[in-house]
Amino acid sequence: MAVFRAMSDGFEIAGATALVTGASGGLGAAIARSLHGRGARLVLTGRRAEELEALAGETGGRALVVDLADRAQLASLSAEAAAADVLVLAAALPGTGRLDTWETDQIDRVLDVNLRAPIQLARVAAAAMTERGRGRIVFMSSLSAKSPQPSSSMYCATKFGMRGFALSLRAELHGTGVGVTVINPSFIRDAGMFHDSGVKLPPFLGTKRPEDVTRAVLRAIEKAPAELDVAPASQSVGAAVGGLFPGFGEAFARRFGGGKITDQFAENQASKR
Ligand SMILES: NC(=O)c1ccc[n+]([C@@H]2O[C@H](COP(=O)([O-])OP(=O)(O)OC[C@H]3O[C@@H](n4cnc5c(N)ncnc54)[C@H](OP(=O)(O)O)[C@@H]3O)[C@@H](O)[C@H]2O)c1
Repeated sequence: MAVFRAMSDGFEIAGATALVTGASGGLGAAIARSLHGRGARLVLTGRRAEELEALAGETGGRALVVDLADRAQLASLSAEAAAADVLVLAAALPGTGRLDTWETDQIDRVLDVNLRAPIQLARVAAAAMTERGRGRIVFMSSLSAKSPQPSSSMYCATKFGMRGFALSLRAELHGTGVGVTVINPSFIRDAGMFHDSGVKLPPFLGTKRPEDVTRAVLRAIEKAPAELDVAPASQSVGAAVGGLFPGFGEAFARRFGGGKITDQFAENQASKR
């Protein structure tokens, strides 16, 4: 149908310039490698210069060390965002822990990195892409953007916010040739912030792989669907139901030890604020 065709027109990744934030992280690096494999030209950002330089050497990309919580450094990335055909917003802090454990400067930092920086970069990129009539913006959100959890109020605040922003921006950009997609991973094994936390999940909770995330990113760029979950079906359905009926979702999570799992995350990720 014509109404759907506008957003599902193919997008050629080969030769496109892709700016990836969080490229020094587990999933960002995997995304960068898969984009390189499809012939994209990469601009890779993060804070750890050594990791970025190694990835840039491997993929022929350019490494830019930028702290997204520093407003001057973020502004310096604007020209790169404006020049990109594809913007993948993967940088984030874990943001776990009960609210009474957070200091004001930590709250500011997680809001800056997880929400303000993606908004600013998307704003600049969307304007330039609209002018060129072509572009893709991919937001790495989380299943935590759909359903509330204890010990995750800051993470959920940023990921709910990112999802709402991205889907509204998508509606604004309809018909411009610029596609916007939100990707919602659940627990990703082998690399990334869940893997690094070392938390062991109860056996009934499945995980997905970094390759599942990279496949979703490629699909997002090529087809521009509104949203893709990267999660076992049971978690995807659970998050959707929890989003519709938050009281029920909260009680269900409590019944199956959700609070204990998120408290463990908070303990193991406390240094990442
Ligand atoms: N892994 C999972 O299971 C999972 C599940 C759901 C959603 N996600 C989402 O997927 C995305 C990628 O996560 P990941 O697992 O790859 O996490 P990760 O391995 O912890 O990587 C996080 C990335 O964010 C960057 N970052 C953090 N603070 C920054 C700052 N102030 N300035 C610039 N960059 C900063 C890090 O850069 P430096 O290390 O160089 O500082 C790193 O590249 C995130 O948005 C995350 O919320 C992940």
